[in-house]
Amino acid sequence: MNIKTLSQLTQPKHAGTAGRVDLVGAGPGDPELLTLKALRSIESADLILYDRLVGDEILSLIPQKTRAIYVGKAKHNHCVPQEQLNQFMVEQAQRGLHICRLKGGDPFIFGRGSEELMELQAAGIASQVIPGITAAAGCSSYAGIPLTHRGLSRGCTFVTGHLKDGKLDLNWTQLANVDHTLVFYMGLSALNEISSQLAAHGLAADTPAALVEKGCHSDQRVVTTTLSELTEQADHHQLESPTLIIIGQVVALREQLNWIEQMTPRPMAVGE
Ligand SMILES: C[S@@+](CC[C@H](N)C(=O)[O-])C[C@H]1O[C@@H](n2cnc3c(N)ncnc32)[C@H](O)[C@@H]1O
Repeated sequence: MNIKTLSQLTQPKHAGTAGRVDLVGAGPGDPELLTLKALRSIESADLILYDRLVGDEILSLIPQKTRAIYVGKAKHNHCVPQEQLNQFMVEQAQRGLHICRLKGGDPFIFGRGSEELMELQAAGIASQVIPGITAAAGCSSYAGIPLTHRGLSRGCTFVTGHLKDGKLDLNWTQLANVDHTLVFYMGLSALNEISSQLAAHGLAADTPAALVEKGCHSDQRVVTTTLSELTEQADHHQLESPTLIIIGQVVALREQLNWIEQMTPRPMAVGE
């Protein structure tokens, strides 16, 4: 799909006014987790550029008359190169369009929002960032796993699990911390490396761990296991992206705090 061709059909709603770009966090899946500000941006934009992790329920909130273009990336398959996308946003904003750049979760957490904002600022385009609920917050809440808990976890670290040349270049000594929660984004392909490095740096093999697939979606799956069994369990359940990995003693609290299973009726977006 050629974004340039499509855009020629889109005209600014308010001709003569300066264009702008909203970098908007769509949250982890459940449309009710969108902020009011995000919804207003979706409803008022001339053009929406959305990523792979923005689900159908959120896309259905886009007004029918508004043009929406998929610009997402799949692994090893960059749909629209980042530089081309940045340039495109600048050009369209210069034409006077109000663009809603819709991203999964939060734009500033593993979302390239900061890179896009830098490009927009360099081109003098008025821009704002509308935060979204990041996958760590959404998935942990909907799985009944608190990221911190007095006496169990004194902090939480969000880590990229994205492999570079088959390796994860992280400070494993610092990460293998017993009273700390670790949340790995994009880590499904790196599970072996994650569990073996953490074990090699002192984290106990029986440390509780969870895999949350499609968190906050109606088909969310949560698999609880231990550090040493992470890879085996992910394979056994054939988990797919997007999956978030949570490691730490707090995972054991899910047994008690799994509020979604205990709730009748269940929240609209989960399990129905
Ligand atoms: C490129 S990062 C984008 C993160 C996003 N900006 C955020 O704040 O959540 C993509 C990774 O986030 C995690 N992720 C995002 N949404 C998720 C969801 N609904 N369920 C599970 N994991 C999710 C997965 O680890 C996925 O590989």
